[in-house]
Amino acid sequence: MSLFRTKDLDKMIHSSRTNTGLQRTLGAMDLTLLGVGAIVGTGIFVLTGSGALLAGPGLSLSFILAAVACGFAALCYAEFSSTVPVSGSIYTYSYATMGEIVAWIIGWDLMLEYGLATSAVSVGWSGYMQSLLSGFGIALPTVLTAAPGAVPDVITWFNLPAFCILLVITGLLSIGIRESARANNVMVFIKVAVVLLFIVVGAGHVQPANWQPYLPFGYNGVFNAAAIVFFAFIGFDAVTSAAEEVKNPARALPVGIIASLGICALLYVVVAAIMTGIVPFAKFDGVDHPVSLALQYAGENWVAGFVDLGAIIGMTTVILVMTYGQTRILFAMSRDGLLPKKLSSIHPRFATPFFTTWLVGIVFAFIAALIPLNILAELINIGTLMAFSLIAVAVLVLRRTRPDLPRAFRCPGVPFVPLAAIGFCVFLMCHLQAVTWIAFLCWLAIGFAIYFGYARKRSLLHPPQQQ
Ligand code: ALA
Repeated sequence: MSLFRTKDLDKMIHSSRTNTGLQRTLGAMDLTLLGVGAIVGTGIFVLTGSGALLAGPGLSLSFILAAVACGFAALCYAEFSSTVPVSGSIYTYSYATMGEIVAWIIGWDLMLEYGLATSAVSVGWSGYMQSLLSGFGIALPTVLTAAPGAVPDVITWFNLPAFCILLVITGLLSIGIRESARANNVMVFIKVAVVLLFIVVGAGHVQPANWQPYLPFGYNGVFNAAAIVFFAFIGFDAVTSAAEEVKNPARALPVGIIASLGICALLYVVVAAIMTGIVPFAKFDGVDHPVSLALQYAGENWVAGFVDLGAIIGMTTVILVMTYGQTRILFAMSRDGLLPKKLSSIHPRFATPFFTTWLVGIVFAFIAALIPLNILAELINIGTLMAFSLIAVAVLVLRRTRPDLPRAFRCPGVPFVPLAAIGFCVFLMCHLQAVTWIAFLCWLAIGFAIYFGYARKRSLLHPPQQQ
């Protein structure tokens, strides 16, 4: 049963109370802004194009379905992460409650979520940067504009802008520059402003004929697109990770989660409807900046330029948050002995996990440069959906095994809400491509091999005589 050995929960709670010294200052409004800041990015600015190819004008329905799945999962996530006031990811908390092997799988899955998301959002950033530069008549050599195979019938080798932006962000993070709450608020304002600008200007150019037929690929197309555009909602977990700094978590957390998801869902649904109303959906094939393309198609080149700029700024912050999250997960796993010690070393001058940050930055910069966005997004989604399902299971299990734990936020409607979360997540996973499943299972197999070949014996929880 050593696979399910757990960290000492009481010790963790005690040390987090004595060490963190975090102030409870955030309210529901701050959480909502935090959520919107972490959520709006490549999903809406880029993946709407791929989604439209799968669902047609019915893409709005896909966004609603993905939002509902996220809503259920988010309520479970909130209970899970607010039960123990330890900052850090659900990896840490699952280690204290569900056991080492579950924590390992969740940590391993989260690498798909955060790590690959840094690459995916960089690819999105690159598309908009190129669109903006082309407005000034600047064009990169075609082979350096995208990953091999990313654009149908065009030869491309390497996504240079995606590679560069990820290294720049890595440089900033490695010397300790993080996004502050104030910077986040400015970014949220810019992102929401460009989305609203698109809606206001684009609405006048809608040709209702483009919405016919509304579901050219039936409901199956809607479900397939939902499994892709689920990506657009990833990031709401940022809200729950602030649980320790929230004034009235029992109320503010669900309000913050539901409000940020609700606002984003509303924006996404309207954007999807307008985009597919301006441009016949088939024209999004191979386009990496669909929102501004729709404006260009309508002859609004100036507005398209503003949208490009806002999207670039907005996506930059998402890359920052995701890269930061990835380094902290590796850091925590290494500190627990599950990964090499070097990954939790701290730079003497910058006081950051310098080595880990650069390792993450370089690896995921190459991935961004060499793998097309759609493949990345599917992998991220499957890993995240799996992690969310496990969390919903954990909520059910812990309600039975540890009813005594103090829970700052209790998921309503247990067991129905966790069961609905599992149902929706598995449903969306089933609508991802077979090749994504194969890649995901390979990823899990590698994870298990490392766990049994390396991590288990080196875990700090391993009895010393056997180490
Ligand atoms: N939801 C985030 C985005 O769309 C990850 O960029």
